[in-house]
Amino acid sequence: PLVTFINSMNTSNTIDVPVGETLMRAAVNSNIDGILGECGGACCCATCHVYLDSTSAPDVPRVGEMEQQMLDHVAEPRRDDSRLACQLVVDSSMEGLRVTIPQTQL
Ligand code: FES
Repeated sequence: PLVTFINSMNTSNTIDVPVGETLMRAAVNSNIDGILGECGGACCCATCHVYLDSTSAPDVPRVGEMEQQMLDHVAEPRRDDSRLACQLVVDSSMEGLRVTIPQTQL
């Protein structure tokens, strides 16, 4: 599915993410700036924070329990649309998903 990352300069990058890959891994593999993923996707660093445009893909799974707790540790303000990209496993329902990358992860 095609996923668009928008950075804080309002530049967008669209990449084709394989089904089953996490959004964090896909971003790192595609050299998308601003998503660090320091813990490698173990949900314990909060450096893969994104703001999810839920209108772009309404069926994205809800925030899980570990993600919920880790979201309290993001560097930029946590919002209702905050997600951790390592916890979002891409599936075909996410075609056209748009996420915004916060200015900093640290
Ligand atoms: Fe560490 Fe997502 S990569 S919490």
